[in-house]
Formats: sequence, structure tokens, C-alpha cells
Amino acid sequence: MKKEKIVIRGRKELHGKVKVSGSKNAALPIIFASILSGDLELHNVPELLDIETASKLLEYMGFYVERGDGILKVQELSVKTETPYELVNRMRASILVLGPLLARYGKAKVSMPGGCAIGTRPVDLHLKALSKLGADLRVDHGFIVGEAKGGLRGAEITFDFPTVGGTENAVMAAVLAKGKTVIRNAAKEPEIVDLIKALKLAGAEIEGEGTDTIEIRGVEGLSPILYRVMPDRIEAGTFLSAVAVAGGEIVVEDFPYETLEIVIDKFREAGLKVEQISERKVLVKKVDRLKATNVVTQPYPGFPTDMQAQFMAAMCFAEGTSVIEETIFENRMMHALELKRLGAKIHVNGTTAVVEGVEKLIGAKVNATDLRASASLVIAGLGAENTTEVYKVFHLDRGYEKLDKKLSNLGADIERVEIYEEEREEV
Ligand code: EPZ
Repeated sequence: MKKEKIVIRGRKELHGKVKVSGSKNAALPIIFASILSGDLELHNVPELLDIETASKLLEYMGFYVERGDGILKVQELSVKTETPYELVNRMRASILVLGPLLARYGKAKVSMPGGCAIGTRPVDLHLKALSKLGADLRVDHGFIVGEAKGGLRGAEITFDFPTVGGTENAVMAAVLAKGKTVIRNAAKEPEIVDLIKALKLAGAEIEGEGTDTIEIRGVEGLSPILYRVMPDRIEAGTFLSAVAVAGGEIVVEDFPYETLEIVIDKFREAGLKVEQISERKVLVKKVDRLKATNVVTQPYPGFPTDMQAQFMAAMCFAEGTSVIEETIFENRMMHALELKRLGAKIHVNGTTAVVEGVEKLIGAKVNATDLRASASLVIAGLGAENTTEVYKVFHLDRGYEKLDKKLSNLGADIERVEIYEEEREEV
């Protein structure tokens, strides 16, 4: 993969309109649900590295995968129920094949996901839930080896924490289990609701999606999944941050307004104008310098952890001091260290950041450390003086479809530049 950096010459206002792409975090579980049905056609699929990884994983397991023009098709051929380390290591969401494999084939060998930049990311809650459904699971040389002789059986599951992935794995496993499953303290994220809508259209019997109690009645099998993925609410929220920092006025289309209430409230509280002009169209306008605003990340419907870094970038320029608390991941403040290289005044204490807003930031070379951190650095660059160069942009391409192009079309002076050997990335 060629090495690139993103170069931004800041202080250009944004104007025009932009369309939000399909949701990465809804598309990924639905793509893996093709293991349950053996047949899937998914629309509005974003072109992302993570979608490519998910496709490669299914191909490795023996599925036929076709992708193009936002449509992804999966057909079951002869399936091997195991996954390789290198693909799981590249994308943690690969753990979402575990539930479907156990439900459909009664066995699975999935590489244990490692930690990642934002935390240890254990999967203990996934394993506990699948064991409750009758799977016999053990970890062997870095692989999770699972068996469900005679298939899975419905069970009562209560999560210690409303885990998004854990809920998705448990729901997909329960769809083909014998009998009824009740999941309590389930996660309520809109992406889970999207997954469940897709499963129900294919014949799954599920109730309670979007609440903390989900009931599933196992069925013999699913018909082909045909679905259109919801818009990406985190990409939509990222555009609110971009206008908050760069200024200007834009219209965002395919904006999933009903899934971003608290994020919209927080940006309005800070003084950004956010106006719904139709069901899925929003006008965003910066009328004045933003005011410092505090956030605490929480499971849905609280302020999403995936918007924390982008909100912090906006608060770096705000008037006053903001307190930003991260309660979901134990190490999701690394963007703060890079923002400080641009002159941001941030004091990080554990998982809390105190951000003292400044009038301006000065462009510099910065390193992206994880997906949302890279978005936060690009946003900060939009408002910084001079030139900001963001390295390790592969992080950005995991979760944003052509973000630099979309910002450039809105008037930002931003371009992607190939890095050659002699121009080493900052260590
Ligand atoms: C999903 O990750 C998203 N990824 C993440 O988005 C998002 O940040 C996260 O949910 C929270 O909203 C996808 O949907 C592909 P969790 P997931 O299980 O499922 C702990 C992005 O930027 N935990 O709700 O891994 C865990 O360590 C990504 O698009 C356990 O302890 O999130 C974390 O602290 C980043 N044991 C917390 O729960 C478990 O078995 C939340 O994790 C599972 C989770």
C-alpha cells in the first residue's frame, strides 16, 4: 500500500453541500450476517479499508464477494470456518464472524483480536454470551476455537456492560439457535438497530432492538439478506466539527438526524447553527467563535466515544475551558498529544482532558494514531495557520470515504500527497 500524507493549508471557510456515506459500523456486522444467510446484497456500502478487509475475510473463508458502486454481494460457496491472524489483526470487528459461524456451522476458529491503539479491547463479554448459548469455547495458540455440537440453544444473557460488538455477536448467534434468547443490558446503538432490521427482513424473529432488552426466537434458516445501510452518523458528526473549526455554511445530505441528538445539542450549546431543513438534510453554519462546552462519552444515546476526538478539535479553538471525559475506552486521548503539537492547550489526566481554547493553532507535522484521531487532526488543520501535514492516513481511510476529497469540494485547501522513501514520516 503506498504511503501518503494529507497536507492542509488552513483558514479556508467551507461552503456548498456534501453527502454522508453509508455507515461503516452498520455495514460490517450486516456483511458478516451473510454467514447466517449464505446470500447477501447490501447497498450504500462505503468504500473503506475496513470493508475491503471484511470482504477479504469472507473470501478467505470460501465466500464469493463482489463489490462495486456501493453495492456488495456475498454468495456462499464451500465455507471454511476459520480466519487468519493477519486479517483479524487488521480489523477487530472480524470477531463478529464468531457468532454467525457457531450458529450456522456449529464450529469456528477465529484468531483472538489483539489490543489496539485505543485500548486492550477484550472480547470476554462476547465469549461469555456465546458460551451461554451453548458454545464450547477455548483459546488455543492465539485462536478462539469454538464448537456447538447439536447447534446453539436459546438462553438468558445479561451483559456486564452494553458492548456493541458483544450485542451484535450474541444477536447473530441467537437468530439460528433453538428456542428463545433474551439479551439484557444490550447496547442500543443505531448500527445494531440497522443490523437487526436487515436480519428481520431475511426472516429472523427479533424484538426490542434499540432498547436494553432484545428478544430473539431462533428460526431454521434465513432467506437472502437484501438491505440498504444507514448513513454514517459519525461521519455526519465529523462535518459538524469541520464547520465549527473552519467556519462557513454547508448543507449535509443523508444526515441521520435522529441518531445524533446529543451531538447536535452539544454543538448548538457551543454556538454552532445546526438546522434540519428536511428529514435527512441539515444546514450547518458557524456564526461566531464557539464557546467552551463539556462532554462525557457514554453508550448510546449518550455522547458517542467515536465523536470525542472530533469534538476536542473544535474545543481547541473555543472561547473558555472545556472538560472532555472519555468513559468507554481507557486510552482514547492520543489525539490530544498531537493537537498540542499544533499549539492546543490541553491537559490530559487519565481519561479526562481539560481543553483551554486558544485563538489560533499553528500548522505542523502530526501523526494519526487511530481512526477518529486522524479525523480530529484533519479538522484541526482546517483551522490552523499555515500548513498541517497529517501522517499515517491509512487510519483515516479505514473509516472515512474520501474525507479529504469531500472537504476539498467544500472549499478546504487539502490534498493527499504520496510520501517517498527519503521523506520519512515523523517517528
Ligand atoms: C464498536 O466497537 C465500534 N466498532 C467502535 O467504533 C465504537 O467506538 C464502540 O463500538 C463503542 O461505541 C464497530 O462497530 C466496528 P464495545 P466495540 O464492545 O464493539 C469493553 C470506530 O471508530 N469491552 O461497545 O469493540 C471495551 O474494551 C470504532 O469506528 C470489554 O471489556 O465496542 C471498551 O472499553 C472504534 N469486553 C467498551 O467495552 C468485551 O467483551 C466498549 O466496547 C467487549 C467490550
